Parts: sequence; structure tokens; C-alpha cells
Amino acid sequence: MTYEFPFTTQPLLELKDEEKLNEARRMKHPHGWSREIRPLHDPGTFISTEVISADPLYLEIGCGHGNYMEKIASEEPEGHFIGVENVHLFAVTAAERVQKAGLSNVLIVNQDANALLQEVFPEESLSKIYIMYPDPWPKNRHEKRRLIKEDTVEYYHSRLKPGGMIDIWTDAPKWVELSSPFLEELPGEMTKEEVSDEISKQRTLFERKAKSKQHPIFHITYTKSG
Ligand SMILES: C[S@@+](CC[C@H](N)C(=O)[O-])C[C@H]1O[C@@H](n2cnc3c(N)ncnc32)[C@H](O)[C@@H]1O
Repeated sequence: MTYEFPFTTQPLLELKDEEKLNEARRMKHPHGWSREIRPLHDPGTFISTEVISADPLYLEIGCGHGNYMEKIASEEPEGHFIGVENVHLFAVTAAERVQKAGLSNVLIVNQDANALLQEVFPEESLSKIYIMYPDPWPKNRHEKRRLIKEDTVEYYHSRLKPGGMIDIWTDAPKWVELSSPFLEELPGEMTKEEVSDEISKQRTLFERKAKSKQHPIFHITYTKSG
């Protein structure tokens, strides 16, 4: 089946696995359940040539419950947005949220973001990649779970259009220390600043948590040379 913008329904909701969802709901923390982060469908499912050739095309990685997708997609109705989330329960929650909001310019996929970037998106297809409050995975043994690292940074770069941007917000100094140096190596322009005092309205669940714990918040951008 091929899907195209505009989406009148979220295809993920047709594929959702009730048994898996109920098991995840019974757990306190879905990350603890290793089956939960095994996506249900192949990386390319739902993402046709029409979808990846939409322009402008934006990707949010780790979209969680879809709060930020709802916000930015409703602010820019002529943009095309894909939210990727590897935890099935969260991805379904995000899909339900955007469907309920009546947004037809968003597609939510339940997949590993790096598999999606590497296997599905062609070079120079994305105008912007958003990453809101990524898991820092500070332990060495969890290094493979980090998003931006030595073996992935090149395809973050190549999938962006010239002038395209990666927009990252984090309250984890460890993320800044471990991941941002890879962006610094890329050709283009990078900015990195602490913006804790500038955020008044919380846009995502983790931004709200960060503010309530009075964590410092960092904003990192990378813009690919035009
Ligand atoms: C700390 S939470 C932040 C959620 C949301 N962006 C927010 O700000 O509230 C990180 C999210 O990224 C998701 N995630 C982590 N690694 C991922 C990956 N490789 N692919 C897709 N999603 C991922 C997690 O499941 C989780 O929902």
C-alpha cells in the first residue's frame, strides 16, 4: 500500500498491536521491555517515494507522545512532517494525538531513527531534523544506542538538503559532551548555547520535566553548507 501526504488517517493505527500495547501499558517503564523497542514494521513501510519527495520535509527523531509534532505541524500546514519513535506505545500515542488534532501533514512511524535515515531517506531529502531531549545513553555499554555518533553522523549530514538544519534541545550535559563533537566535525555551521532562562512555555514532556527539575537546557543547531 502506498501512502501520500495528506494523511487522512495514520497508517500506524491500522498496524498497531493491541497485545503489545497492553503489555507495555502494564509496565511502569516501556524501555525496560526489550521487545517493546523492536519496531513492528520494516523501515520503509508507509514511506513511499511520494512521501520522501515532499518538500519541505521535516523529520522529528524520538517524537515520544507527539506533542512537538502537533505543535510544529499545526504552525506550518504547508510543511510535511515525519515523526519517528522506536517505542511502539509512544508511537501509537503520537499517531492518535496527530489524528485527533486533524493534522494531515504528519506521518508517525514506529521505527529506529538511524535505520530509517540510513535505509529509507535519500541524500538531500530533508529540510530539517528535530531532536527534542534525546536519551544521552551515558554508559559505554549503551554507546550503540546513541543517535549521533561516529558511524551515523555522516548520514545525518548527507540526508539534509544544502542549507538544511539539525535542531537539538537537551538538558543532558552528557549528551552535549558525547554527541555534539561529531557535529562539530561536519562542514557547515554549528551553534551551541545554554538557553535555560529563555524557555517559558514547555513544548514537550521532557522539556517540562527538565524545567521542573531546574536542569540547564542547551540548544544546539547544525546548518549544512548551502
Ligand atoms: C527522552 S525521550 C524525549 C521524548 C520527546 N522528544 C520529549 O521531548 O518529550 C527520548 C525519546 O526518543 C526515543 N528514541 C530513542 N532512541 C530512538 C531511536 N533510535 N529511534 C527512534 N526513537 C528513539 C525514545 O523512545 C523516547 O521516546
